[in-house]
Amino acid sequence: MEYAIEIKNLSKSFSSKKAVDDISCKIEKGQLFSMLGVNGAGKTTTIRLITGLSKPTGGDVLVYGKSVNSQMEEIKPLLNLSPQENAAAGALTVWENLVFMARLYGFSKADAEKRARKLVEDFSMESELNTKAKTLSGGWQRRLSIAMALVTDPKILFLDEPTLGLDVLARRELWTVIRSLKGKVTIVLTTHYMEEAEALSDRIAVMTKGKIRAEGTLDELLSATGAPNLEEAFIKIAEEDKNNV
Ligand SMILES: Nc1ncnc2c1ncn2[C@@H]1O[C@H](COP(=O)(O)OP(=O)(O)O)[C@@H](O)[C@H]1O
Ligand SMILES: [Mg+2]
Repeated sequence: MEYAIEIKNLSKSFSSKKAVDDISCKIEKGQLFSMLGVNGAGKTTTIRLITGLSKPTGGDVLVYGKSVNSQMEEIKPLLNLSPQENAAAGALTVWENLVFMARLYGFSKADAEKRARKLVEDFSMESELNTKAKTLSGGWQRRLSIAMALVTDPKILFLDEPTLGLDVLARRELWTVIRSLKGKVTIVLTTHYMEEAEALSDRIAVMTKGKIRAEGTLDELLSATGAPNLEEAFIKIAEEDKNNV
């Protein structure tokens, strides 16, 4: 099966508010798929639905062919999430957070330490090993958060606004980290930064007001809209939506 995720007419309402409104799309294995949209577009809600943190009010998602509505227990081991908010325990060091997370998922002490060592190496975190998470810079906190999500060796990694609030240099460093994961794990990334989606994605879904308005490669989105860059394309797509309402 080629698809990691198939979203099928997925909806989530909170009383009368449609946070996710009948969206469908397919995400291929091994790809980096971005959901691009301004605050409130429904990105985090979509991730919560796919990862089982929230239940759909309509539709379904198949993860490796299994339904989030009826087979969530089989889906859970396949994925992990680096959430929009900080994931690490502030009073623990980088090393302790990684080992703690692995232990939480049932690894033996020796295996947990082995996994943590591998992640420290992959993420070049040696210099920060003994730093308490709460005193890390924003960029290092996000790096740790992503490493913690990889402790379980997921097939699909969700990165919800991974560079939110970071300065431009920290953002660039994190892009390098994210790029290094491409091809090793399917990545679903949300962002409202146009240049981030442009720099990292294999495919991009443009979301506004709970709907996917357009989906494709960067080139496809540019040629469909006749825009010179993603920001212009995004604005055109968002404007079209306004005209249709
Ligand atoms: N638990 C909730 N209860 C009520 N409304 C919610 C809840 N979660 C999200 N929303 C609303 O759904 C919409 C989409 O939110 P969200 O998915 O967080 O957007 P994004 O991540 O794209 O910024 C927003 O209008 C938000 O206020
Ligand atoms: Mg969000």
